[in-house]
Amino acid sequence: MTEHVFPESFVWGSATAAYQIEGAATEDGRGPSIWDTYSHTPGRTLNGDTGDVAADHYHRWQEDLGHVAALGLGAYRFSISWPRVQPGGSGPFNRAGLDFYSRLVDGLLERGVRPVATLYHWDLPQEREDAGGWPSRDTALRFQEYAAGVVEALGDRVHTWTTLNEPWCSAYLGYASGVHAPGRTEPAAALAAVHHLNLAHGLAGRVVRELAPAAELSVTLNLHVVRAASDSAADRDAVRRIDALANRAFLGPMLDGAYPADLLADTAAVTDWSFVRDGDEKLIAVPLDVLGVNYYSSTLVRAWDGVSPRSDADGHGKSDASPWVAAEDVDFLPQPGPHTAMGWNIDPEAFTELLLRLHREYPAQPLMITENGAAFDDVVSADGTIQDDRRVDYLRRHVAAVAEARARGADVRGYFVWSLLDNFEWGYGYDRRFGIIRVDYDTQVRTWKQSAHWYRRLAATGRLDA
Ligand code: FCB
Repeated sequence: MTEHVFPESFVWGSATAAYQIEGAATEDGRGPSIWDTYSHTPGRTLNGDTGDVAADHYHRWQEDLGHVAALGLGAYRFSISWPRVQPGGSGPFNRAGLDFYSRLVDGLLERGVRPVATLYHWDLPQEREDAGGWPSRDTALRFQEYAAGVVEALGDRVHTWTTLNEPWCSAYLGYASGVHAPGRTEPAAALAAVHHLNLAHGLAGRVVRELAPAAELSVTLNLHVVRAASDSAADRDAVRRIDALANRAFLGPMLDGAYPADLLADTAAVTDWSFVRDGDEKLIAVPLDVLGVNYYSSTLVRAWDGVSPRSDADGHGKSDASPWVAAEDVDFLPQPGPHTAMGWNIDPEAFTELLLRLHREYPAQPLMITENGAAFDDVVSADGTIQDDRRVDYLRRHVAAVAEARARGADVRGYFVWSLLDNFEWGYGYDRRFGIIRVDYDTQVRTWKQSAHWYRRLAATGRLDA
């Protein structure tokens, strides 16, 4: 058995997102977001679940911070709900909304926990969607104003500002496959959304630099580890194309200051990218203190041979429309088990591979694991305990994968488990549980699962027996 030892400076945290835990959807002046509209549309989410109440964190935040403190975590990653602090997504701010996050940040600081705040975790104010949503450039400009209002209010009490969470999902699941809000299926709009999310990142990043110079700046990406089913030139080209859409569409402008030429060429039949204006790419490439990486599973592709049955097992939900714009002839193959309750394959080696790739391509860029975790069908035992051994095993193997990448040079500074609490898992509603703390949705009682006890020991000692 290898023992991995993390240094004391390594940050152990947990992550959540506003719409997934807060509830209080219409309280204290909060306006509707695209996720309110989407989840209230029949047929969009499993069992018609909505975030109206969620884990009721808006009312129970003190109790929840108590759990963060009792877990001994050094940092807590949460997101700010744009429609709670600026209900229409432009114009006046809502004092009550800003005060909620101000109390949350102070509550973290009082408990010695670093606040890591994400400005956008998918809950676009509905008014902004009605005005065009992310395919419209104006949304990025409004996001800059929103960021300024929030950063002015919370400033450098927030240790790390994260502009966006997983813009890949916002753009392609929201506007191409439609399995996320706002549920549109317009490939050209999805690519325009990619650019305007990137632009929003750059504009908001500059606001953070100016208004909170002592704070750290980051963005969180769900990078894909894409593997080829064979060594054929066609399969390798399928990897290149998916890598461009999934990874380099964001890494390119954010870290290299330009979109990759092959992405523009691959998608030329869908759009001419004329929405990218002179100077945009430079703006987007605001230097980052840390790059946030979310990782859950890996991706296996092949070029469709024109005869075999099509396969779309990309792990991103079922839709007649593909999120993979202009890649209709790429197949996403099912992968060997075991799988989590999301149907995602468990592949910690790919996690190490991803971190080493980032280290190789961006050696000077510090990294932070901003999400990693697993959904399983938890069972509450007769004595009330939750022995979630499969989750503990998943976490242990993935933390070991991080240790392995660090040992090989990757500058990974911290790890945030997804998630602190069971919560509203987007299109899957309350059916998929990712928490290390169970939430009983009838009573809102929180119970530590075995994984929470395990994670507390890891955070306390920095020692992982793998
Ligand atoms: C990520 C999201 C997060 C959560 C996990 C399971 O894509 O950022 O909100 O839903 O997946």
